[in-house]
Amino acid sequence: MKIRKAVIPAAGLGTRFLPATKSVPKEMIPLVDKPTLQYIVEEAVNAGIEDILIITGRTKRAVEDHFDKSYELETELEKSGKLEYLKAMQDISDMANIQYVRQKEAKGLGHAIYCAKSFAENEPFAVLLGDDVVDAEKPCLGQMIERFNEHQATILGVQTVSDEDTSKYGIVKGNKIGDRMYHVDDMVEKPAPGTAPSNVAVLGRYIITPEIFRCLEETKPGAGGEIQLTDALRILAKKEDVLAYDFIGRRYDVGSKQGYLEATVDFALKRPDLREEFLQYLKKIVAAG
Ligand code: G1P
Repeated sequence: MKIRKAVIPAAGLGTRFLPATKSVPKEMIPLVDKPTLQYIVEEAVNAGIEDILIITGRTKRAVEDHFDKSYELETELEKSGKLEYLKAMQDISDMANIQYVRQKEAKGLGHAIYCAKSFAENEPFAVLLGDDVVDAEKPCLGQMIERFNEHQATILGVQTVSDEDTSKYGIVKGNKIGDRMYHVDDMVEKPAPGTAPSNVAVLGRYIITPEIFRCLEETKPGAGGEIQLTDALRILAKKEDVLAYDFIGRRYDVGSKQGYLEATVDFALKRPDLREEFLQYLKKIVAAG
């Protein structure tokens, strides 16, 4: 079956970025000049996704406005001859067919994904988490869809993390079954330091079969008292094959300040219009110590 749909949970409160996130959704905070969520939507679209469901919540209206048409702005840009900006604005609203559903209570990632049950219409679907921005030659999700097409099974996007970082992620216990591929036997959400079954961490990309919704119905609150997607995936792994794919690309945790700053610097340096001047500036501060 073809992967046509993607779910992007964007209901989190963004407490790590207060005070910015008091009135601005964390997904709208830009890397250079583009909201982080737009990078995620573009990755999905570049991987061939046609329909996107964004799980939002109260205080997230700016997200819907961003992907909508802005007649007033477009008219102004046209009048003033700023045609490049005009096209960029039109491209955003034409990018994909985006729907929204509100998660009324913050009950965890698993609960957010359950909000996508009727959207998924019993098809396998992709999940992209907004805190994980991946810079890759071939879109991370596109790499995963290729693996899905080979195996027709749930695929988790993983990379190896350091021992100190295992407690931040869903960690996979499994066996290597081929080039960059693992078979998942079990998983644990944010294991206590020193107890992780491996260093293979799930980094914000998933392709999941619709059986997950039945698993989520069975899932009890886990880490942090929340319904965890990882716990539902453990149940799924007992019913059908769950695989993990070690994707190629540089992943940034833009939900952390360090990751956000690294992404900002790297993305600015990739921009031909900014690179030279910004690089000179960076060299100057580094030289000054
Ligand atoms: C979520 C998932 C976790 C995953 C992580 C990737 O955690 O629950 O399994 O490894 O995203 O970024 P969060 O970072 O939302 O707490």
